[in-house]
Amino acid sequence: MVVIVTGGAGFIGSNFVFYMIEKHPDYRIICLDKLTYAGNLSTLKPVINNENFRFVKADICDRNAVDKLFEEEHPDIVVNFAAESHVDRSIENPEVFLRTNIIGTEVLMDVCRKHGIKRYHQISTDEVYGDLPLDRPDLFFTENTPIHTSSPYSSSKAGADLLVLAYYRTYGLPVTISRCSNNYGPYHFPEKLIPLMIANALNDKPLPVYGEGINVRDWLYVEDHCRAIDLIIHNGKEGEVYNVGGHNEMKNIDIVKLICKELNKPESLITYVTDRKGHDMRYAIDPTKIYNELGWLPKTKFDDGIKKTIKWYLENREWWEDIISGEYQNYYEKMYSER
Ligand code: NAD
Ligand code: DAU
Repeated sequence: MVVIVTGGAGFIGSNFVFYMIEKHPDYRIICLDKLTYAGNLSTLKPVINNENFRFVKADICDRNAVDKLFEEEHPDIVVNFAAESHVDRSIENPEVFLRTNIIGTEVLMDVCRKHGIKRYHQISTDEVYGDLPLDRPDLFFTENTPIHTSSPYSSSKAGADLLVLAYYRTYGLPVTISRCSNNYGPYHFPEKLIPLMIANALNDKPLPVYGEGINVRDWLYVEDHCRAIDLIIHNGKEGEVYNVGGHNEMKNIDIVKLICKELNKPESLITYVTDRKGHDMRYAIDPTKIYNELGWLPKTKFDDGIKKTIKWYLENREWWEDIISGEYQNYYEKMYSER
């Protein structure tokens, strides 16, 4: 099998590349990534010299580059992780989100149609369902929950999902979609809640909690997500959407306090800052379908996963210090200085 993984130099994509190389040593894994601010070639160091791995620097919106790669490699499966992924950045500048997340998906699927493919898998997000109220803990997102987005990011992801389903119905492209909850684990870019709080705490910097910190996210260890994707691309039904989540809801403030405790840092570092515009209150996935159809269940409990993650950030300071010492400084200044 030849598998193209787009966005494989980012957080989840790189973890998926590692997972696939380990799980399927007879597969050829090709990572196509533009290396935006969020993509880092050093992340792929553990596999870069593996004979079954190839890295190609390209933009998923570049039709000629994608077409050339398909001509060279004749992929069986494409898994599309490539995206602009940060909600706060989408609020500042939506345009690039529409370009990469929607047009990029269209280009990839057009090239899949031209060359023929066994499976095109779209990595989507639970954010396409909008949010749930805090006072209704009985409600969860199922695959039938209507699309109802809040941010330019989630709208662009929802647009891509609709396009994927249209390519299934109109052209018969063999597609699947997964909609996962918040991931955490190694190689998570430090602009996101968990790695940002770990990095700031280790540097004794303020921990900026949006609003009252009562928003709820449903956290899943990244390796559990990768296992779900592997199951879906091999055994999932064409044209279907699969929700992925582990029933692990936590308030942001509780996560930040836990990180302080694990790192032995004072909670006085916590600083409440202006809320995110349009901030979603609660995400909660109902993963019944993927359990019933594919037997998927998460393996890593949050207590263990967060310890493993913190340990990884302690042992891999060079990886994230390198990131936060560059252009990220300007981003941080812009997003947080007057918040
Ligand atoms: P990330 O921002 O860490 O990585 C994105 C990767 O895509 C980077 O390597 C970047 O260089 C690459 N990329 C961006 N634009 C590109 C383009 N035009 N062409 C080629 N490559 C490009 O993102 P992530 O957190 O790993 O998320 C991966 C996917 O999973 C996204 O589609 C996101 O919507 C989805 N998702 C993320 C989460 C989460 O909690 N992080 C949860 C559910 C779904
Ligand atoms: O649910 C899946 C989504 O999870 C993915 O589709 C997105 O790509 C991914 O970025 C993530 O989106 P969130 O907006 O939930 O993640 P983020 O880490 O940006 O924020 C998590 C929560 O923490 C959210 O309620 C906002 C809050 N937050 C975030 C940051 C960066 C803070 O309070 N302070 C911060 O500095």
